[in-house]
Amino acid sequence: MSQLNKFKRYTITSALPYANGPLHIGHLAGAYLPADIFVRYLRLKKKDVVYICGSDEHGAAITIKAKKEDTTPQAIIDKYHSQIKKSFEEFGISFDFYHRTSSAIHHDLSQEFFLNLYEKDEFIEKYSDQYFDEDYQQFLADRYITGTCPNCGYGNAYGDQCENCGTSLNPTDLINPISTLSGKPPVLKPTKHWYLPLDKYQPWLEKWIDTKEGEWKVNVFGQCKSWLKSGLQPRSMTRDLDWGIDVPLDEAKGKKLYVWMDAPIGYISATKQWALDNGRDWKLYWKKQEKEEDDTCLIHFIGKDNIVFHCIIFPAILHAHGEYVLPQNVPANEFLNLEGEKLSTSRNHAVWLHEYLEEFPGKQDELRYVLTSILPETSDSEFTWKDYQARVNNELVAILGNFVNRVMILMHKFFDGKVESAGHGNIKLNDDSINTDLGRFYDELERSLETYKFRQGLQTVMEIARLGNRYLTEKEPWKTIKTNPDDARLALHNSLILIGHLASCLQPFLPVTAAKILDMLNWPAEQIGFEEAMVFDNGHQLNPAALLFEKVEDEVIAFQMEKLAAKKLAALPAQSATLVPAKEDINYEAFAAMDIRIGTITAAEKVAKTKKLLKLTIDTGIDERTVVSGIAEHYEPEAIIGKKVSILVNLEPREIKGIASQGMILMAEDGDGKLTFVSPDDDLHNGSVVR
Ligand code: 2FM
Ligand code: ZN
Repeated sequence: MSQLNKFKRYTITSALPYANGPLHIGHLAGAYLPADIFVRYLRLKKKDVVYICGSDEHGAAITIKAKKEDTTPQAIIDKYHSQIKKSFEEFGISFDFYHRTSSAIHHDLSQEFFLNLYEKDEFIEKYSDQYFDEDYQQFLADRYITGTCPNCGYGNAYGDQCENCGTSLNPTDLINPISTLSGKPPVLKPTKHWYLPLDKYQPWLEKWIDTKEGEWKVNVFGQCKSWLKSGLQPRSMTRDLDWGIDVPLDEAKGKKLYVWMDAPIGYISATKQWALDNGRDWKLYWKKQEKEEDDTCLIHFIGKDNIVFHCIIFPAILHAHGEYVLPQNVPANEFLNLEGEKLSTSRNHAVWLHEYLEEFPGKQDELRYVLTSILPETSDSEFTWKDYQARVNNELVAILGNFVNRVMILMHKFFDGKVESAGHGNIKLNDDSINTDLGRFYDELERSLETYKFRQGLQTVMEIARLGNRYLTEKEPWKTIKTNPDDARLALHNSLILIGHLASCLQPFLPVTAAKILDMLNWPAEQIGFEEAMVFDNGHQLNPAALLFEKVEDEVIAFQMEKLAAKKLAALPAQSATLVPAKEDINYEAFAAMDIRIGTITAAEKVAKTKKLLKLTIDTGIDERTVVSGIAEHYEPEAIIGKKVSILVNLEPREIKGIASQGMILMAEDGDGKLTFVSPDDDLHNGSVVR
């Protein structure tokens, strides 16, 4: 199997989901379905593989949720860990072990990692100013601070990362930071922390990442190169928090490990627990072996928001430790959108897995099929209910289900479901042209799966079903049964063997369907390998035909679309309330100190390499000036020239993307995040005062 073939062992991980809410289709399409397909394929090829995951139970994501639900972090993780685990099981995500980071074995291992680096003097210890919420008397985790991203201008970036442009941030990078606890600007206060010197590892990281060119996906490799290009900075591995793993140092009382010094180590601690439970040696799956060729092949499946942590920070930790293998590949996916919009937990704009399972019982494979067909492998992709219906009806029902069903029905009708040769020999595939096509399909499938192109792989499998339908139409056994029954028998036997191959290749993608087909063929699942031809004993008895897929009716889709619209509506008021908390009263002087004028946009252009920023030239009546504004996603530059706007002219200038921005254009933002200019009703002169 290409360059992957050289390994003796495989350690495959999927990003540990935060145990702070249920799973939706975006999760499945991001890091779990692709990994599950890959792992099932490796197992089919009889490889030694361990597939690891678990709940990420620390970090601000958990405490924020606990606060929102007015309960404890422990109650949150217990509730969602079980729910998430169940959803994974029901969708057939075939982890060898699903663990949790609140376990003792994980706490111990994370502390061991920290101490290993500490004792080697790897950390830089320093006091730094960190944001502190005076109302709540606590330091703020990165996720508790939001503000404007200095890279793209997105207004709701978190203190550790901008979810819009993916840039990894420090909280102090944010423009106009706000504490999400009190809704007020936080203050800076000194506190001691332990920093991982990423700058020191930069030359090593550069060299290592360069070896991945051409092997890693372009999106992943490109992001890594771009971070390296902007220069890595030391990153604090500890936090002032009250939920998480204690920093194992006397002088660090009350401090916790940074969640990224904790979560990825969860892959290792989970493997340890799996090994303990199953009498295996976890070190084979993680540690460097005496001979490099005996090392395991470590692959992390993640979403694009986790690239920096898995390609830079975690490898740097593993490298600093020294005993562990590094990831061979990190095939990160982009994001899945839903009906034209980003999936959003807070706006309840999602298809939740537990709800899908209630409303579509037994139809896990239908969702697996549709999601695999649209995986965001190279760019963001989109799930729509109409597309779901079309793919189920026109592909699963009309192509795959139809082929299998026709063959099974005809076999039972003409031959009582008995696979019998005219002579006494076993029954093998007996058609050269089908054989050649199959060989090509297997090659294509292997190539696709080994280069993480799962969409393409599924299409290849569907080609087998298409080939089967064409073959049946050409052979017309329902006609030849009257004129030449041996021909009809041969055509149906060849079709049955084709169905066997179909079941084998479908196993990684649609495990339930593959099992149903194998059951109809009366063929034990454990006896089917990859690219192994099915040979029936003379007299083999098939089981009765069963329908694989049902057509999805229009009403079902209409119901789902209405449900989405209703959820969105219900979420709106709550969202505006949480997004924009009322600010504290100010006195009149504070208001009067703001010099807001009417001005005209005289020129506008996009700021290079940003998605959100426009560089505007404004005639303010008092001068002509440049303002950088985060509105590029709402207005085309050419459409706003001549537009009258309100501008705060006495805001102190600041540099955004190397451009000196003088002032701020006033924008109104609705609950959906749509921005519009605050413009005068009449055609006022530039320089008119707003008060
Ligand atoms: O972004 C997230 O959902 C994190 N919980 C992913 C952690 S991945 C790994 F490092 F554990
Ligand atoms: Zn950004």
